[in-house]
Amino acid sequence: MRIDIITVLPELLDGPLNNSIVKRAQNKGLAEIYLHNLRDYSTNKYHRVDDYPFGGSAGMVMQIEPIDRVISFLKSERKYDEVIYTSPDGEQFNQKMANSLSLLENVIILCGHYKGIDHRIREHLITKEISIGDYVLTGGELAAAVIADAVVRIIPGVISDEQSALSDCFQDDLLAPPVYTRPAEYNGWKVPDVLLSGHEKNIHDWELQQAIERTKRIRPDLLKE
Ligand code: ADE
Repeated sequence: MRIDIITVLPELLDGPLNNSIVKRAQNKGLAEIYLHNLRDYSTNKYHRVDDYPFGGSAGMVMQIEPIDRVISFLKSERKYDEVIYTSPDGEQFNQKMANSLSLLENVIILCGHYKGIDHRIREHLITKEISIGDYVLTGGELAAAVIADAVVRIIPGVISDEQSALSDCFQDDLLAPPVYTRPAEYNGWKVPDVLLSGHEKNIHDWELQQAIERTKRIRPDLLKE
């Protein structure tokens, strides 16, 4: 899978996308992630990419031209399955969306900034608008990093034990059960006996019951869905 991220702050994305599992996915050739600095596509002498909004409201708005130029350039090189825009007023991101995005071949993510982007971009160039939650970030970069991370880690082969991605929280609308490691007792705090029993079915039943109990307590909305 190839992800092209368009941003005015590529340095914000460097860290999250060049470490750990996402880095490993790129090293294994399972994911390619490219950062494009929007300012490089500005024809303005000062590399400006924003302007005052028509109508006189506060804040700056990202202009059409540089965004159209970079998207057109990318589209001239290959076909894209989705052109995503990160924005707090987009569709709420969740595991199901991450799963379906991970099946795509080529995706563009445009990071929003300032007051927003000229609405004509959303009407004519964007195919999907995603919010990572009901709060406002300074820009769409962290949202793009969240989306890329969640999508890349579930590409088959990225996590060596595929089971481990499939048993994540939310994959079956349940929170994950608690996990423990050595020592089996610390300061008198004990690991549940069943996990030390070696009895596979009992362990599985216990994990499912814990997952249901935690979901009921912490995220009852998931069970309603
Ligand atoms: N940009 C600013 N806030 C955002 C959010 N919550 N989700 C996606 N993009 C954003």
